[in-house]
Amino acid sequence: MGIRILASGAFTPSLTVTNDDLSTIVDTNDEWIRTRTGISSRRMSCGEPTWYMGTQAAKQAIERAGIDPLDISYIIDSTITGDFFTPSVACVIQREIGAKNAAAFDISAACSGFVYGLDIANRYLMTDDSAKYILVVANENLSYITNFTDRSSCILFADGAAAVVLEKSNGLFTSWLGADGCGMKYLYAKTGHVPNPFEHDAPYMDDGTDEEGPVGVLVQNGKEVYKFAVKALPHAVRMAADKIGMDIADIDRFIPHQANIRIIETAAKNLGVDLDKFYTNIDHTGNTSSASIPIALNEAMENGVIRRGEKVCFVGFGAGLTLGAVIFEF
Ligand code: UT7
Repeated sequence: MGIRILASGAFTPSLTVTNDDLSTIVDTNDEWIRTRTGISSRRMSCGEPTWYMGTQAAKQAIERAGIDPLDISYIIDSTITGDFFTPSVACVIQREIGAKNAAAFDISAACSGFVYGLDIANRYLMTDDSAKYILVVANENLSYITNFTDRSSCILFADGAAAVVLEKSNGLFTSWLGADGCGMKYLYAKTGHVPNPFEHDAPYMDDGTDEEGPVGVLVQNGKEVYKFAVKALPHAVRMAADKIGMDIADIDRFIPHQANIRIIETAAKNLGVDLDKFYTNIDHTGNTSSASIPIALNEAMENGVIRRGEKVCFVGFGAGLTLGAVIFEF
């Protein structure tokens, strides 16, 4: 049992931020950013909320799939930048698209979120006979939590959304998910909270973050995340392929999380796969966390780069630390 992507949709905010634009707010330059990351420009929200971006992507995917929103059984939304503590972004999207029969919930797995979402969707499709269509959305407003005074991280992150409509398929499917909470200190954003008037001195609990560090913005140890990423990508792909005894060479197309072009190049080499098989669009999208894989997928579908019947692998890695891969017949 597998999944079939009936259609995809995407929404990218209209504001384009170039490397030169960033050099007006931090000490950086176009050459450094392009050679170290592969990014030339990225899109940033100009006030579009996360739920709005996700809704636009979802509407496009639903229209292209030609389905009735009332036939959607589950809405799974991946985000680390929701607009509300509650409700979930998925519930807001359910309201916006009129998918009254769908259960709706968010998942938080950072840049691996879309891969986690597809794995969950596959399990629902396998176990719930009444499930007809599942909508998986990934939407991120990383500009909500970017530290625009930190030149080593603010040059990476961007905003955007994409969605897919899934149904059951008898085609090949395998997936593998992983996590390493001990690596949380390398990439995190702390929430703030309202002081509780009844709070007493609580025993200090080391939460693994920098106690004095900033609240509400991404804190990143770029070198450590880089070292993790170049191993995580090949590891996740191999773990997923090994589950069904699949030869990596038989995978036609890879769509990796678009974190840094150098990560993708090194990871492809570590995996022993020609870089040509990797679809990349980081040059004009930047790193949109969990939205990066489906935005690239949507672009690849629009460009006719991915063809039906091909064996496709999506592979993600990021904060958590989390990692995962799905391989399926497109
Ligand atoms: O979704 C997952 C999200 N995160 C990632 O994928 C991040 C993974 N890590 C990376 O992509 C890279 O580590 C970065 C792009 C973040 C940094 O690249 P790097 O090659 O590891 O640079 P570095 O941190 O070693 O810094 C090299 C130099 C330093 O100067 P000195 O000490 O050698 O004089 C930095 O201060 O580059 C400097 N630098 C910059 N210079 C101009 C750091 N950021 C910038 C900048 N512009 N934006």
